[in-house]
Amino acid sequence: MENFEIINPVRVVFGKEQWSRLPELLKAQNAKKIMVAYGGGSVKKIGLFDTVMDAIKDDFEIVEFGGIPANPEYTKLMEAVELARKESIDFIIALGGGSVIDGVKFISGAIGYKGEPWDVLERKEGCVFDTAVPFGTILTIPATGSEVNSGGVISRSEIGAKRTMGGPLFFPVFSFCDPTVVATLPKRQLANGIIDAYMHVLEQYVTVTGDNLLQERQAEAILSTLIEVKGVVDNPSDYDLAANFMLCASHALNGNLRCGVKTDWTTHMIGHELTAKYGIDHARTLAIVGPRLFENQFERKKNKLAQYGERVWGLKGEAGEVALEAIKKTEEFFQELGVSTKLSKYSEETAEFPQYVSAIFEERDWTALGEHQAINPKDVKDILEACI
Ligand code: NZQ
Ligand code: ZN
Repeated sequence: MENFEIINPVRVVFGKEQWSRLPELLKAQNAKKIMVAYGGGSVKKIGLFDTVMDAIKDDFEIVEFGGIPANPEYTKLMEAVELARKESIDFIIALGGGSVIDGVKFISGAIGYKGEPWDVLERKEGCVFDTAVPFGTILTIPATGSEVNSGGVISRSEIGAKRTMGGPLFFPVFSFCDPTVVATLPKRQLANGIIDAYMHVLEQYVTVTGDNLLQERQAEAILSTLIEVKGVVDNPSDYDLAANFMLCASHALNGNLRCGVKTDWTTHMIGHELTAKYGIDHARTLAIVGPRLFENQFERKKNKLAQYGERVWGLKGEAGEVALEAIKKTEEFFQELGVSTKLSKYSEETAEFPQYVSAIFEERDWTALGEHQAINPKDVKDILEACI
């Protein structure tokens, strides 16, 4: 088992209609002037915006900031940063999914940053966010786990970039996780949420065998539960399915599964380039890349894939065959959720793409990825060619 250190200070308020808790938690933060940030308008359509405002508007000064797009855009977020500086905001509520929450993480760090905030995401030497305005989240879509972690992913479409950020300053103070929101989600987002959570687990699991027995079993439990609750896509109003789905998505990326284990986030790293280039939904990029990466790295990951096949899919037989079948089962699961796993289904202009991504990985010095630091830019090119 690897050494590890973990902290997760997020207060999760889980369950139906806990809004009366909001003022109390905000007062505990000494919040006075709050920015309520949200996305393209779904929170208004489903009535959640009004519900939240009703709970807080009498006790706090509110500044609204809407329009954060899926794959939160740097330019839009900088508008929020300017507004927050002008209004001297002392707390932010992220009312939305991963995009709004990630956007708020960025806003919270950029408000007090003296230089150009994009430099922090470019990891320019000496450029770090060293203060953050505290924020809480009200989750509207189970998927990313952003409500319980300190990471974020920010897009800048004018230069075709999607970059990660994070650190201990960027844990939400609280997160309201109300499974009744699941009933309002379109099928596409439900399927995306299941796949994103599923791949978060696989990327912390399909590496080496036997180095942390507890985390392996916990990963397998989340994978099995996600398969068990897939009916939520057709029955989003089923509260128990929705609640279990929401729990799985949070637990997939709250930091617990990575304790003491080797991880391999290459599928996400490649996936972000697919979103940056083609605008493909985050989860769909993972459905495209994940199975092909497992094939490309088959010899290194074979034993763990076989364990996954046996324990999660109930497969029996010779390890190599079970491992191959496990990849097939995974891909079929994604397809069954209505998601295509072929890049060519999303775009016809893909010929140059594998080489392009390979070159930018080389340029960023991402030349030794994966649990064995064995995935190089040439492998990335091969994986993407197989995705087409
Ligand atoms: O913008 P609105 O109108 O709110 O519509 C959203 C959006 O179009 C809609 N939606 C959200 N809740 C809804 C709803 N529609 C109806 N009813 C509701 N209750 O769903 C669409 C997608 O929302 P988004 O927030 O983009 O989805 P998701 O939660 O999947 O977030 C994806 C983003 O998170 C990043 C991804 O890269 C992507 O940018 N990730 C963040 C991670 C993290 N911070 O830990 C990890 C992930 O691996 C991921 O990279
Ligand atoms: Zn993800």
